[in-house]
Amino acid sequence: MAYDLVVIGSGPGGYVCAVKAAQLGLKVAIVEKRATYGGTCLNVGCIPSKALLHASEMYSHAAHGMDALGIEGLAPKLNLEKMMGHKDATVKANVDGVAFLFKKNKIEAFQGTGKVLGAGKVAVLGEKGEQVLETKAIVIATGSDVAGIPGVPVEIDEKVIVSSTGAIALDKVPEKLVVVGGGVIGLELGSVWQRLGAKVTVVEYLDTILGGMDGEVSKQFQRMLAKQGMEIKVGAKVTGVEKTAGGAKVTFEPVKGGEAVTVEADVVLIATGRRPYTEGLGLAEAGVAMDKRGFVEIDDHFQTTVKGVYAIGDVVRGPMLAHKAEDEGVALAEILAGQAGHVNYDVIPGVVYTQPEVASVGKTEEELKAAGVAYKVGKFPFMANGRARAMLATDGFVKILADKETDRVLGGHIVGFGAGEMIHEIAVLMEFGGSAEDLGRTCHAHPTMSEAVKEAALATFFKPIHM
Ligand code: NAI
Repeated sequence: MAYDLVVIGSGPGGYVCAVKAAQLGLKVAIVEKRATYGGTCLNVGCIPSKALLHASEMYSHAAHGMDALGIEGLAPKLNLEKMMGHKDATVKANVDGVAFLFKKNKIEAFQGTGKVLGAGKVAVLGEKGEQVLETKAIVIATGSDVAGIPGVPVEIDEKVIVSSTGAIALDKVPEKLVVVGGGVIGLELGSVWQRLGAKVTVVEYLDTILGGMDGEVSKQFQRMLAKQGMEIKVGAKVTGVEKTAGGAKVTFEPVKGGEAVTVEADVVLIATGRRPYTEGLGLAEAGVAMDKRGFVEIDDHFQTTVKGVYAIGDVVRGPMLAHKAEDEGVALAEILAGQAGHVNYDVIPGVVYTQPEVASVGKTEEELKAAGVAYKVGKFPFMANGRARAMLATDGFVKILADKETDRVLGGHIVGFGAGEMIHEIAVLMEFGGSAEDLGRTCHAHPTMSEAVKEAALATFFKPIHM
């Protein structure tokens, strides 16, 4: 057998699985059809969007946010081409980093489209024609693609009607941007263009943005975005998106019934979710079962219905998050190397990289209520945190949910500057089965934003000090 493992797809799931398996002594090959490694996340997703989120935030800060600090007279000039250059350089550094990791770990990389021919055989269709790789195990890590709007035909041209891919590559700031879907992509990329001067309207089907997040968090966050000037229409179902002579128009109607409204836009971002990507992989022919939504079915050890064929990341159940895919990649590599790989799906943080950030781990209050769990809530606002005041970052709060009887922390939710970094102390605590009292009695450096986490934990079993 030529390889122990052939991975199809080099996104965060696939490349991490390959590197870990090679570190554990397995002979690994990886197949990627894109010209560069790293998948959606590194090429057109997480990484480039964060470069633009950071740059646009700096711009907006310089334009609006410095007077109160005594820094006056800033009149920043936007050079969008240069900002895009920063994004491209960030992507290049990251994808080159993956190529370096492959070399360092002696992973053989094949460029082309991978196809499963059955257990132990993968065809690679590339520029050099077809090659067949023989392997003990196959890992499908082909990720996801834009889902489109259910029941509404939309032609994405990536110029006027765009997915996230086109939305990170616009060549000018649209005067009016309509975002369909108030989920993570819509709010992050909507924020980018709003900061750079676009008038942004978000149309969301549910009664709340960021559906699935803790209700209190999404409600407060929606108010913050509205204060920033984002127009948010919730409970509104988009029924049509069409190109016009000068741009596009979007039609939506109240979900509860009522008159339809049509709005004009220079650019429309379709951000209504993603679907598993398995086209051309030959899975059905190989006997790999998929569920009715197109996700590859796997058992507790990531094995599909065909022995020796495994799947991880966005093509399988669970949140479509890069770090979830990475953890699955590590766990699967360990299993294939004869170790006991495991992913704790109860402790997977989620972060929305807006300003302020929104971060969450574990259960929401709604989930605990629905499950009939007796719980305690502790909350602390950044308004009462000294460091937040010094940085003019007083928007937001920390919320800790703990089991009423055992005091074990069941969930943590943060809206605020740096939430995406702060969430991890709650994640580590939960991974170790820690209690709210453990968190509240852990010494936190002063003055830090993280003190709000400690105070929220104190509030679950007694009282915070600074309120
Ligand atoms: P999403 O599932 O987060 O949000 C899509 C939204 O579109 C939902 O709120 C849904 O109710 C709404 N929607 C659906 N049909 C609609 C209609 N006809 N009219 C109005 N609204 C409608 O999906 P999104 O934002 O596209 O992201 C895709 C995936 O990528 C998600 O799984 C997300 O977690 C992941 N992602 C994660 C990021 C992060 O962790 N920071 C960043 C970007 C993406």
